[in-house]
Amino acid sequence: MRRLSGREIEQLDPYAFMAVIGKRVIHPGGRIATEQLFRRADFHEDDRVLDVGCGVATTAITIARRFGAKVTAVDISPLMLERAQANVQAAKVDDPVAIEEGDILSLRFPNESFDCVIAEAVTMFVERGRAAQELVRVSRPGARILATEFMWRRPPTAAAREIFLGQVCPGMRFDTVDDWVRIYENAGLINLQVDDGPFELMTPRGFLQDEGLARMLAIMGRVLTRPAHLKKMAWLMPRMQSAVPYLGYVVVAGEKQPSSQARA
Ligand SMILES: C[S@@+](CC[C@H](N)C(=O)[O-])C[C@H]1O[C@@H](n2cnc3c(N)ncnc32)[C@H](O)[C@@H]1O
Repeated sequence: MRRLSGREIEQLDPYAFMAVIGKRVIHPGGRIATEQLFRRADFHEDDRVLDVGCGVATTAITIARRFGAKVTAVDISPLMLERAQANVQAAKVDDPVAIEEGDILSLRFPNESFDCVIAEAVTMFVERGRAAQELVRVSRPGARILATEFMWRRPPTAAAREIFLGQVCPGMRFDTVDDWVRIYENAGLINLQVDDGPFELMTPRGFLQDEGLARMLAIMGRVLTRPAHLKKMAWLMPRMQSAVPYLGYVVVAGEKQPSSQARA
């Protein structure tokens, strides 16, 4: 993988930076949220699964290995795609997992292509209603559609809100659980269910749970031995920590209406 310059590292968004330092789980709620999503998804062998905004393909690889599903994993970022491809090859799952470029707002797949579609921490970066409709469009009638989304667990202080949405993730949009449910209902999902929990992505406990001790130490080594990484982390961590008490995630799960019930 190409070594990024100090200037490129400075300009990375927090999620791409996490990928660069070797983090594998890059969404709020971490592996706990992914396990909640798996329980609702009820994957079967040979299911056609689409993972949109796959990041470094951690979830896609697990779905293929654990459930025997065929996974197409797409992301808009070349940096994520490069790491996703490397991880898939290292895990020797390049047959059941296909990695390709894709935009959640305009997927290349025909209508009704997948048995299950997931998007972990992606729609809040784009126009949410349109993204939800696109996830539904590529799902077959009756398919399961699941998304992990950021939310405020409790009302943030003005300072915490400004730091997170103004500085750490400029342009990101949050909604309440009810709003997220409405977005997915409006896109055509039925039988909606939700699970929620705290943020934990960058807390010491969440880091350890998601990455394990060996990877956590390797990541710390990568941060400490490159000044550009250290500088970025020193900027990011205090800002993240000020927002963490208010942040959470919600996993929204539902089904695409069978054709006979579909809206006009
Ligand atoms: C917070 S990360 C989540 C990554 C991964 N789903 C995970 O849980 O580890 C958000 C991901 O969404 C991707 N992304 C952002 N906008 C996108 C878009 N319009 N279409 C597809 N992927 C997008 C980013 O490149 C990034 O990989």
